[in-house]
Amino acid sequence: MTIEAKPETILICREVSGGYAVDAQAHRGVLMAISFQVQAGDCLSITGPSGSGKSALLRLLNRFDDPTQGEIYFHGKPLQTFDPLEIRKRISLVLQNPVMFHGTVRENLLRRPDKQQLSETTLVQALEEVGLDRSFLDRNAMELSGGEKQRISIARSLLGGPEILLLDEPTSALDRRSLHLIADLITQLNRVKGLTLIVVTHQAELVHRMGGRVLFLERGHIVQETWAEQATRLLEEHR
Ligand SMILES: Nc1ncnc2c1ncn2[C@@H]1O[C@H](COP(=O)(O)OP(=O)(O)OP(=O)(O)O)[C@@H](O)[C@H]1O
Ligand SMILES: [Mg+2]
Repeated sequence: MTIEAKPETILICREVSGGYAVDAQAHRGVLMAISFQVQAGDCLSITGPSGSGKSALLRLLNRFDDPTQGEIYFHGKPLQTFDPLEIRKRISLVLQNPVMFHGTVRENLLRRPDKQQLSETTLVQALEEVGLDRSFLDRNAMELSGGEKQRISIARSLLGGPEILLLDEPTSALDRRSLHLIADLITQLNRVKGLTLIVVTHQAELVHRMGGRVLFLERGHIVQETWAEQATRLLEEHR
């Protein structure tokens, strides 16, 4: 008899409201009563119209803001009990337009909030994980293409050894070929390395290539939870 291991629930959002650290008096509340769970190894897409609160939600998961109501749990403990720096390492956010600093890719990868010392071998491995070779280490980071910057940004996150990777519109600024490259890269990280992904996107093609669960946000509410295969019409309607 085989016993199937139950997937571990690593993140729980329970009736979470809030978003964007604005003056509490003026706060209208961007997100309202958001509830969902994420299990280790999940690939979750979050989609919905512009302004529906997708980025606001990622900011809460990364402790850039804290909820005004409800609670987020990470490994069963309230997210607010974790140090923000620790959380940003374990739940790492990759932005839509990655910020590169002046200097080489090496200098960009070595510039870390945790002051971690990294060997040349580790840097090369991180580049290989995102499909780039070691020659990129000496390239000027400002002169990379959008897709290459996106990959360096993912490599930078991976160097912190995250459990969850949050990606905010990772392919919306890229052409189709780069979209496919990034989609395949993150899908591999999920399927082969078991990295848990939460990906905000309005692109049906990305959702389909990744597969998995899809949350649909509208005006700060989750209005539908479905699977990538069933989300085509929903995504087409809100392109
Ligand atoms: N810095 C801010 N302070 C207060 N409210 C903000 C701030 N930035 C955005 N908002 C508002 O919060 C709401 C949700 O914004 P959010 O950026 O989460 O939307 P989104 O779903 O990510 O949209 P998009 O697809 O355009 O990126 C919007 O009504 C927006 O105007
Ligand atoms: Mg956004």
